[in-house]
Amino acid sequence: MIVGVPREAFPGERRVALVPAALPALAGASLEVLIEAGAGTEAGFPDRAYTEKGARIAASRADVFAEAGVVLQVRGPGAAGEAGRADLAALRDGQAVIGFSEPLGEPAVAREVAERGATALSMELIPRITRAQSMDALSSMATIAGYKAVLLAASALPRMFPMMMTAAGTITPARVFIIGAGVAGLQAIASARRLGARVEAYDVRPAVKEQVESLGANFVELPLETGAAEDAGGYAKAQDESFYRRQRETMTRVVAASDVVVTTALVPGKTAPVLVTKEMVAGMAPGSVVVDLAAERGGNCALTKGDEEVVSDNGVTVLGPTNLPSTVPYHASQMYAKNITTLLLHLTKDGALALDTEDEITAGTLVSQGGQVVHPRVRELLEASA
Ligand code: NAI
Repeated sequence: MIVGVPREAFPGERRVALVPAALPALAGASLEVLIEAGAGTEAGFPDRAYTEKGARIAASRADVFAEAGVVLQVRGPGAAGEAGRADLAALRDGQAVIGFSEPLGEPAVAREVAERGATALSMELIPRITRAQSMDALSSMATIAGYKAVLLAASALPRMFPMMMTAAGTITPARVFIIGAGVAGLQAIASARRLGARVEAYDVRPAVKEQVESLGANFVELPLETGAAEDAGGYAKAQDESFYRRQRETMTRVVAASDVVVTTALVPGKTAPVLVTKEMVAGMAPGSVVVDLAAERGGNCALTKGDEEVVSDNGVTVLGPTNLPSTVPYHASQMYAKNITTLLLHLTKDGALALDTEDEITAGTLVSQGGQVVHPRVRELLEASA
C-alpha cells in the first residue's frame, strides 16, 4: 500500500506528518511512501532527506491523493479550514485518511468525508491509555505548547526569570503560576523551573499535587470542594458555574502576586472555563504576562484574543497563541511522525489496512467507514443538529 503525505495546506502550518526517520519502520511493514514535493521543507526536512530513506516525491498534491491508499496529515479535513475542504473532493472510496480532524468540533466535515467513502481516523480521539501512549499526538503537541508558552512569557516579561546575585544587586526570581497541571501544564512547570522561576500550580484534580511537587513547584491549595474531579479516563470533569466563581475568588490573590500566569485548563469537548477575569488581570502588576493556551477553545482568560497580543489598561500582556507546536516544527513533526507511524503500524497487516473494530484504540479513533460516520459521539452530534 502507498502511504501519501501531502504538504500541510492550513495557513501558517509548518509541521509535516512524516519525517524521514520514520520511513524505515514503514518500509519494514511493506508500506511505500509518497511525499508531496516540499512537504517537509518548513519543518527542516528537504525532499532529498526523504528520498535517501526510500520515499518517492510526487510532483503534485493531486498525485498524492490519487495514488495513496492511506493519506497521513497533521491537519486533515475539519482541522484545516478552507484548505481542508478543498481536499475533500480528492478523497475516494476505500481510501484512508489519518490526522487531526476535529470530528467533535466539525462533525459536518466528518460526514462529508464519510460520504466520499473514505475511512477516517482522527488523532485527537486516540484514547489516553498506556497501550496507546506512543500514539498520543495530543500529548506530544501539548508538551511542546507548555514549553513554548513559558518561552513566550519569558521574552514578553520585562523581568528575568532566575534569581541572580550580581555586583549590581540581587535579582529576585520571577513568580510563575500555572493553572491546569495536565500535559501542557506540567511541561510549563518544568520549563519555568529550568529557567529559574519560582513556580506555583493549581489543578482541580488533587491527584496531580505530587507530580507538581516532584517538578519543584508549589501546589496551591484552594479551599474548594471538587467532588469527583476526574472521569474514568483521568480527565477533568466539568464543574458548575458556582465552582468556577469560587475558584476565581480564591485564585485572585495568587494571580495578583504572579509575574506570569500560564493557563491550560481544559475539560475535553467543552469550551474552556473562564478562570482569569478582567478584574483579576487589573490586579496584576504592570508588565506581567498571561499566556492562555486554551485560546482556541475560547480561552481561560476573559481578555484573550486568539493569536493576538492584548495589552490591558494596566499594562498586562495577554497572549493567546493557538498553534504553538507549529512554531517548533522540527521536533513537533518528529514527535507527531512517531505517533502517527505507531498508529498506522497498529492498523496494518502485510502492507494493507486491517482494521480490528473490536480493538479499543482502533474503535476509539475510527470516525468513518463504509460510507457512514461510525464514531458514536460524532453521530450523536450530527443527530442533534439534524
Ligand atoms: P490535559 O487534559 O492533559 O490538561 C488539562 C488540565 O486542566 C487537566 O489536568 C485538568 O484537570 C485541568 N483543569 C480542568 N479544569 C480546571 C480548572 N477549573 N482549574 C484548574 N485546572 C483545571 O490537557 P493538555 O493536553 O495539557 O492541554 C491543555 C490545553 O492546552 C488545552 O486547552 C489544549 O487545547 C491546549 N493546547 C494548546 C496548544 C496551543 O498551541 N495553544 C497546543 C496544544 C494544546
